[in-house]
Amino acid sequence: MTNKIKNLFSLEGRVAIVTGGDGRLGIEHAKALSVAGATVYSFDTVRSDALAKVATHIDVDITEPEQIARAVSQVIKDSGRIDILVNNAVIDPPLPKEGEAGWEAYPEFPQAQWEKEISVGLSGAQYSLQAVAPIMIKQKKGSVIQISSTSGITAPNHSKYPAGRFKSAAYPTVKTGLLGLTRAWASYFSAVGAPDVRVNALCLGAVNFKEITPELLEKLKGRNMLGRPASPDEYHGALVFLASDASAFMTAQTLIMDGGQTTW
Ligand SMILES: NC(=O)c1ccc[n+]([C@@H]2O[C@H](COP(=O)([O-])OP(=O)(O)OC[C@H]3O[C@@H](n4cnc5c(N)ncnc54)[C@H](O)[C@@H]3O)[C@@H](O)[C@H]2O)c1
Repeated sequence: MTNKIKNLFSLEGRVAIVTGGDGRLGIEHAKALSVAGATVYSFDTVRSDALAKVATHIDVDITEPEQIARAVSQVIKDSGRIDILVNNAVIDPPLPKEGEAGWEAYPEFPQAQWEKEISVGLSGAQYSLQAVAPIMIKQKKGSVIQISSTSGITAPNHSKYPAGRFKSAAYPTVKTGLLGLTRAWASYFSAVGAPDVRVNALCLGAVNFKEITPELLEKLKGRNMLGRPASPDEYHGALVFLASDASAFMTAQTLIMDGGQTTW
C-alpha cells in the first residue's frame, strides 16, 4: 500500500518543461518536479544560476512559436518525450516606487505594456501547449499545469495601493484567461482520443519572497484565513499532485491553494 501511494506521486522517467522556470516560483516548480524524479527543462529568456542544480535552461521567448518549436525539438532529441508542461511565465511588474512610471490609470494604460503582458502570460501558454500537444497526443498521456492566481478569481483591490496607482487589468485578464484555456484544451484532448492528456489550473495566493517589505507582509497577514502568505516551497505538493498519476482522474479543473483567501 505504502509503495503504491509513493508510486502514484513518482515522476521517475518523466520529462517536464516549465516556462519561466528561471523565475522565483519557476525554480520552485522545477525543484519539486526534479525531486519527484522528473528531468526538467526551463524555457526562459533569463538564465538563473539557482536553476542549474535542478533543471536545464533553454533560451526561449515563448511569444515566438518558432523558438518554442526549436526548444521542444531539443528536449525530444535529448530526452525522448514530454510528459509535463507547466505554463508559468508571466510579466507582472511590481508596484513602482514613488516618482517611477507604471501602474497607470486604466484609460492611460500603455498599449505596448498591455500587449506584452497578454502575449507572455496568455498567448505564450497557448503557443507552448500547441508545441507539446502533438507529442502528448502521440504518447496518449501528459499533464499540463497552468499557473493561475487568486487574481484569476477575484478583482484587484486598488484601494490597497497608493493613490493614482492601479494594478494592471492585464494581469487578472491573463490569470482568468488561463482558466478558460485549461478547460478548452482538456476538452480538445478528450475529443481527439487522448483524454489522458490532462490540463488543470493551479491558482496560487501571495508568496513570502525574501524581497517582501515588512509593511507588505503585515498587509498580507490579514488577507487569508491562515494569516500569512505562502512560503515559496509551499506549492511543491500541489504541483507534484497535478503532474503525477495521483491526479489521474482530474482534468479541466482549477485547484485553488490560497490559504482560504478567495472564499472570504
Ligand atoms: N509571486 C507570487 O506571489 C504569485 C502569486 C500567485 C501566482 N503567481 C504566478 O506564479 C507564476 C510565477 O510568478 P513569479 O513570481 O515566479 O514571477 P517571476 O517574474 O519571478 O518569473 C517569471 C519568469 O517568466 C519569465 N519570462 C518572462 N517573459 C518571458 C518570455 N517571453 N519567454 C519566456 N519566459 C519569460 C521571466 O524571465 C521570469 O523568469 C506566474 O504565473 C504568476 O502569475 C505568483
